[in-house]
Amino acid sequence: MLAPRVPGYVPVLGNLLGFRSDPLGTIVRAVREAGDVARASFPRHQGHFLFHPDAVRSVLVDHAKDVSKETPGFDALRLLLGNGLVTSEGAYWLRQRRIAQPAFHRHKIFALGARMVELTERTADEWQRAAEAGRAVDVAESMTRLTLRIVGDTMLGRDVERDAADVGQALGWLLHDLNRRIVRPWTPPLSWKTPANVRFLAAQATIFKVIDETIAAKRRDPSAPGGELLRMLLEARDEETGEAMDDAQLRDEVATIFGAGHETTANLLAWTWSWLSRSPEVRRKLHAELDAVLGTRAVTADDYPKLPYTRAVLSETLRITPVVWLLSRRLKTALQVGPYELPAGSLVFLSPYGTHRHPAFWENPEGFDPERFVGEAPPSRPTMAYFPFGAGPRKCIGDTFALVEATLVLATLARRFEADLLPGKVPVPEPVITLRPRDGMPMKIRAR
Ligand code: HEM
Repeated sequence: MLAPRVPGYVPVLGNLLGFRSDPLGTIVRAVREAGDVARASFPRHQGHFLFHPDAVRSVLVDHAKDVSKETPGFDALRLLLGNGLVTSEGAYWLRQRRIAQPAFHRHKIFALGARMVELTERTADEWQRAAEAGRAVDVAESMTRLTLRIVGDTMLGRDVERDAADVGQALGWLLHDLNRRIVRPWTPPLSWKTPANVRFLAAQATIFKVIDETIAAKRRDPSAPGGELLRMLLEARDEETGEAMDDAQLRDEVATIFGAGHETTANLLAWTWSWLSRSPEVRRKLHAELDAVLGTRAVTADDYPKLPYTRAVLSETLRITPVVWLLSRRLKTALQVGPYELPAGSLVFLSPYGTHRHPAFWENPEGFDPERFVGEAPPSRPTMAYFPFGAGPRKCIGDTFALVEATLVLATLARRFEADLLPGKVPVPEPVITLRPRDGMPMKIRAR
């Protein structure tokens, strides 16, 4: 039995045009019209979108060993992140994950809280100046600089302030280019000197330079403060050979942490500011919680459990604008999903953007309502109806880091400021690898 098609199918090109022109709209139509499973065709690939939570669990958890990351999306990402934690597979991935895991233990992340708040104070000073001058701030850019500063300092031991503009610009460009490579049926290999490839390599060189300097500095002075994860990567020795990671392996892991560790949280925070500006009642409740718990003192990591509404605002932002909006896998063996047999070798797509809007599990899915995440989840909503950080063995290693960081940043800034979208400037989500605001997010800052 064949699953219903993703809407917008045309002969020969299949669903290519729909996904190229409006991927999010196509996904929303698919989950509304086709339901739990939808068949997608592209000129060179066949695949299925699996929206039902049970199917998501089946692929990411139960059959994690029967799927691979050999997909067009991950192939493109490998150009940027090499063979690091996000993209590697098998025994190599498992070894690297075990080396990195201790740096992400809950108590270690909480211990970084004070530093996260300290680094956020710099952004607060910038916002204060903008508020006094009545100047708009590009909140997306501001959050990107902040999260880059935080992950650079805490995990890698580098003050990235001086690199932030260059890295941010290079990364923005690379993400766009990778997206182009994913949706085009064919792009010239990087060894061909086309203008796009020359630009790609230049942007990559900007990022590699920062990474190589970061590694060299930690090697010179391993006991310098900060950079816990990089220290672990440098100290790790292979159990059998006793060898350390070589420079290429280190570069890939550091690129992965730089990339995965800031762009995602930055977009989560940017979307949060935009939802707060559009939802006055939610903003009022957030301020009420911050005022009651913190008063005029600075937030600390110990406040994290005391700020349930602040955390619910972030959870709801990750539901409605999940920054990782699409995950892909290739089936190594055939997979039965309900009445459908998905063939070995075909692709499967899991979309937090789609599943987080599944009408069977979410009432009024387009409404921004943090109350959904206050208290226990209703029994009618299975755990896997919500998976902004993925699931199973490949679940995000940085989920606690991201949530603690985002809570402390939001509490620090929202206690003191309000940010309002400029009239007529509702940001449009642009699904590149992450879900970014298409034209940045200029906002007017007011001191509270
Ligand atoms: C709001 C913020 C974040 C979101 C929404 C997010 C989302 C995700 C998702 C969905 C995956 C799974 C990808 C897949 O299964 O194909 C993932 C993996 C990963 N994330 Fe995150 N992430 C966030 C923040 C971070 C941070 C702060 C770090 C590091 C400091 C990080 C590092 C990683 C790594 C290394 C992996 C690969 C894990 C593995 O396969 O072993 N992420 N992330």
